[in-house]
Amino acid sequence: MSAVTGLRLRGILDSRGRPTVEADVRAGDAWGRGSCPVAIAPGRLERRRGLRTGELGDLGDGPVVRLLRDGLTGVPLTGQGDLDRRLRELDDRHGLGADVTLAVSLAHARALAAGSGVSLRGWMSGLFPHPPRMPRLLVNAFSGGIHHDGAPDSFQQIMAVPDTGTLTGDVRAALEIYGALERRLSDAGPSGADGRRRSGGGAVAISASSGLLAPGWSCARRLEELRAACEGHRAGLGADVAAEHLLAGPGRYRYEGREHASAAFAALLLDLAVTHGIAYLEDPFDPADTGTWRAFLPAAREAGVTVVGDDLFASDAGRVVPGLADAVLLKPSQAGTVTATLEAAAAARALGLRLVVSHRSGETEDTAMCDLAVAVGAEWIKIGGPRRGDRIAKYNQLIRLAETLTDDPVQEATDPVQETTHEGAAACHAPSSSRT
Ligand code: PGA
Ligand code: ZN
Repeated sequence: MSAVTGLRLRGILDSRGRPTVEADVRAGDAWGRGSCPVAIAPGRLERRRGLRTGELGDLGDGPVVRLLRDGLTGVPLTGQGDLDRRLRELDDRHGLGADVTLAVSLAHARALAAGSGVSLRGWMSGLFPHPPRMPRLLVNAFSGGIHHDGAPDSFQQIMAVPDTGTLTGDVRAALEIYGALERRLSDAGPSGADGRRRSGGGAVAISASSGLLAPGWSCARRLEELRAACEGHRAGLGADVAAEHLLAGPGRYRYEGREHASAAFAALLLDLAVTHGIAYLEDPFDPADTGTWRAFLPAAREAGVTVVGDDLFASDAGRVVPGLADAVLLKPSQAGTVTATLEAAAAARALGLRLVVSHRSGETEDTAMCDLAVAVGAEWIKIGGPRRGDRIAKYNQLIRLAETLTDDPVQEATDPVQETTHEGAAACHAPSSSRT
């Protein structure tokens, strides 16, 4: 039995320089901190954000803080699930928002982990009956779509998927591939929005999730350039279509200046995937376009493409159904609590689906998603490109987490000084049915 003995909320900044919420929670003698990332354009099925005050710093005794303190402090709790259930009830009743509930939920999880003398990863592993493993990296190379300043009619992200067999090897490959791509983009001096070519060797621009911006390049060109940058590395290609944001009307998608009906868009995606060797394809269609998802899945599998549902499932266990995708993407901020995220992960595993743990476009320096990914044994983690402090914090946390897996991946050393670094033990998941 535990209880929340103190709670504080504050406004902090995300990677776009916009306010989001951070919580400090005290449980017994231990305390923990957690914050919530923010999406540029959230999916319409995910739980809503609440705190839009824009305030920075301590939110003091404001209405949301009062509601939380009244509802949570001093109440005997049986554990994280109990707290998260109460948070969900408070959210349903008062519209606190998933940003507030997630920040509090994560802060509470860290407080319980600290109180038990284990890492957040170790503590989360105790809540999820699956051997922890290092995920493979989805490295954002190009940002487009709604993550870019232009009209949303291109893929939101084009990614490299290193496959060296170890986390540190994958991080090195990510740095080299990204660096090579930066140089290619800089040397090529692609046309800017004004249609004029920049001179070679110019600075390159990156998005809030550290994807390179290449306004003059089509998706096909971006895929070609990334493929060239991957030369000499074991790495596959991935794309997040984020098709919900390309919707031009029911069953119609905007893509590179033209509109396509669902079936034609599916054929176009498959053609691009086969031509460029895309092995990971996220949100190819709108969540309501389930007939197209169903028809696409067998054809995509045949072509060696793993189909992933992000806005489709919205990290909601109740939405995870078979026959639509191969993998469920988990964003804790979509689910609103640690428990709801783990429930979505469990629903995926129960159907034999794979897992991706994902960042949001606006991240804080919080690295809990890395601990989560390892704890649920996710096949992939999507943390953006290897630039900007908020993304680098995730790369660094993964490097630390790789050290905590011993020969028996379930076993975790809790004293960092005594943990053994064992590259073999940190070997990444390599889903055999995937070409990535
Ligand atoms: P979002 O996208 O945070 O803008 O929803 C992130 C992603 O899917 O990579
Ligand atoms: Zn996505």
